[in-house]
Amino acid sequence: MDEEKPFFAAVISGGTIRHSWVFLLLMFTVTAVFTLQAATKTFSSVWPLLGQSDAGDHAGHPTCSGFFRPVPPRKFVVSVTEFGAVGDGRTLNTEAFRKAVQYLKSFENRGGSQLNVPNGTWITGSFNLSSNFTLFLDEGAIILASQDPKDWPIIEPLPSYGRGRERLGGRHMSLIHGNGLTNVVITGNNGTVDGQGKIWWDQWWNRTLEHTRGHLVELMNSNNIMISNLTFRNSPFWTIHPVYCSNVLIKNMTILAPLNAPNTDGIDPDSSVCICIEDCYIESGDDLVAVKSGWDQYGIRTARPSSNIIVRRVSGTTPTCSGVSIGSEMSGGISNITLEDIHVRDSASGVRIKTEVGRGGYIVNISVVNIALKRVKTPVKFSRGANDHPDGGWDPNAIPRVVGIFIADMVSVNSTKAPELLGMKDAPYEGICMKNISILGLPSSATWHCEYVSGFTSRVYPSACPQLMSNISSPSWCSVA
Ligand SMILES: *[C@@H]1O[C@H](CO)[C@@H](O)[C@H](O)[C@H]1NC(C)=O
Ligand SMILES: *[C@@H]1O[C@H](CO)[C@@H](O)[C@H](O)[C@H]1NC(C)=O
Ligand SMILES: *[C@@H]1O[C@H](CO)[C@@H](O)[C@H](O)[C@H]1NC(C)=O
Ligand SMILES: *[C@@H]1O[C@H](CO)[C@@H](O)[C@H](O)[C@H]1NC(C)=O
Ligand SMILES: *[C@@H]1O[C@H](CO)[C@@H](O)[C@H](O)[C@H]1NC(C)=O
Ligand SMILES: *[C@@H]1O[C@H](CO)[C@@H](O)[C@H](O)[C@H]1NC(C)=O
Ligand SMILES: *[C@@H]1O[C@H](CO)[C@@H](O)[C@H](O)[C@H]1NC(C)=O
Ligand SMILES: *[C@@H]1O[C@H](CO)[C@@H](O)[C@H](O)[C@H]1NC(C)=O
Ligand SMILES: *[C@@H]1O[C@H](CO)[C@@H](O)[C@H](O)[C@H]1NC(C)=O
Ligand SMILES: *[C@@H]1O[C@H](CO)[C@@H](O)[C@H](O)[C@H]1NC(C)=O
Ligand SMILES: *[C@@H]1O[C@H](CO)[C@@H](O)[C@H](O)[C@H]1NC(C)=O
Ligand SMILES: *[C@@H]1O[C@H](CO)[C@@H](O)[C@H](O)[C@H]1NC(C)=O
Repeated sequence: MDEEKPFFAAVISGGTIRHSWVFLLLMFTVTAVFTLQAATKTFSSVWPLLGQSDAGDHAGHPTCSGFFRPVPPRKFVVSVTEFGAVGDGRTLNTEAFRKAVQYLKSFENRGGSQLNVPNGTWITGSFNLSSNFTLFLDEGAIILASQDPKDWPIIEPLPSYGRGRERLGGRHMSLIHGNGLTNVVITGNNGTVDGQGKIWWDQWWNRTLEHTRGHLVELMNSNNIMISNLTFRNSPFWTIHPVYCSNVLIKNMTILAPLNAPNTDGIDPDSSVCICIEDCYIESGDDLVAVKSGWDQYGIRTARPSSNIIVRRVSGTTPTCSGVSIGSEMSGGISNITLEDIHVRDSASGVRIKTEVGRGGYIVNISVVNIALKRVKTPVKFSRGANDHPDGGWDPNAIPRVVGIFIADMVSVNSTKAPELLGMKDAPYEGICMKNISILGLPSSATWHCEYVSGFTSRVYPSACPQLMSNISSPSWCSVA
């Protein structure tokens, strides 16, 4: 299948594709992809890990095993109670968590440490993690976020956003935070982290937010992270946010927020590489999973792409948003993303690609396979913007490139709209391939709506728009077979 690669490679390097070029491009090499990715800071260090192949579990399902380097048992294990924490659901334990981590830092290079959170309800404000560190929540353990915004310190905005995502200036630190860490595990025996986000959602609704809301968990500039076997609830904002990270495994998580809680995305890999998300159930007020890479001129300048990301066996619902989305912040570029075995019900869209003039960057080589949708209004939606910019400094000539979107084996029942694929006038979305797609239960008036897109389709029902019925035969990566 190596001959498939040059199509995307040429596009990443900035070449303009015309239909008649497709076959010529197929003869080029994949070099451009490697050149591009080698330019990102973390790429060379994480590449060897991906080489360990996806061995599969006992039942033969593919697994994320190559993405996280297993850590040895920690030498030093201690309970948060030893730092004075009280799990009575009333005592504020911020100082206990912060002291515990500060103390456990001294074990980073002495065999690592584990902080246990026993059965009980532990109220706390934001705290950091350390390296070679496990946060373990016993069965029945609930970490409950403080509802006093002062317990969520203000930190610097991300360079790739230039400001807080919602408000200018700094932003609230996440409840559980890490920066510059390696070998971190957040796990347990189905314990819960509850962000008690209602005060923040209310401030959003009544427009009284002073600073951008904090995430439930944010890890920045970190490598080799695993988050597993827990329930996360009621995040004030996006729930899990790995940014400038590599080798992150998120597995067997339940993520819940009220279906009308604003911007409570499940998992948002952002400017990060080698991320695997599998076996998660997510229901919330925003996208279940959204892959991002920075915002307009700040994201372009920071130039940290998201690539080599797998999202598999994820299910859930979000009534006004999407199952999985790419963007809209994508200015550092997004490539080589695989979404498979995704089940979405009762949602606004299944698979969504969102960009905007001013974003720059690219969305390349996205593969979406085996998708089951139930009562999802618009099964596939590409959109081109909502005039959402960080400030007046965005570049109207920074037009994103969207090339190489492969969507196959999708069944959608009780949808109300056919796919809506809206590309940009100055940069049509190219190399779209859709195969074996059945959208059932549509009103007969529902037809595909396509603007500024081109590509190929086969075995799609109802029949596609003319723009996706290219009159040259499809390339091998989109073969009809
Ligand atoms: C495109 O993505 C697929 C699936 O992730 C991957 O196997 C393939 O190598 C990628 N191609 C390029 C050129 O990156
Ligand atoms: C973490 O532990 C590994 C050994 O397992 C060690 O090589 C590394 O330096 C440690 N990291 C830190 C930050 O101390
Ligand atoms: C947790 O503690 C409560 C109160 O002591 C008890 O009722 C409950 O059974 C415990 N849960 C677990 C899983 O041990
Ligand atoms: C968390 O760590 C950062 C450095 O990454 C530091 O600036 C900050 O003060 C720490 N915050 C807390 C609450 O410990
Ligand atoms: C998933 O996590 C739950 C606890 O949250 C645990 O009981 C279950 O065994 C885990 N499943 C797998 C396959 O690890
Ligand atoms: C995990 O805990 C949640 C409640 O926090 C519960 O709904 C769920 O069934 C539990 N899962 C397992 C596998 O025990
Ligand atoms: C907005 O919501 C916050 C949080 O619930 C509340 O403290 C504040 O009084 C509300 N402000 C207005 C104007 O409703
Ligand atoms: C999840 O929990 C199950 C049951 O305790 C355990 O077998 C499994 O290894 C855990 N998985 C991860 C990824 O933590
Ligand atoms: C694309 O990602 C897949 C894993 O999903 C990986 O096997 C492949 O090597 C990646 N390709 C490139 C060019 O990075
Ligand atoms: C078409 O897609 C359906 C549903 O995803 C799948 O069950 C079926 O095997 C696919 N057919 C082929 C020929 O791949
Ligand atoms: C749509 O839902 C209705 C029930 O609400 C069901 O009877 C019907 O079969 C569904 N349509 C399709 C195509 O599945
Ligand atoms: C391909 O040919 C058909 C029939 O002549 C036409 O309707 C359609 O617009 C053409 N598609 C493209 C992309 O040119």
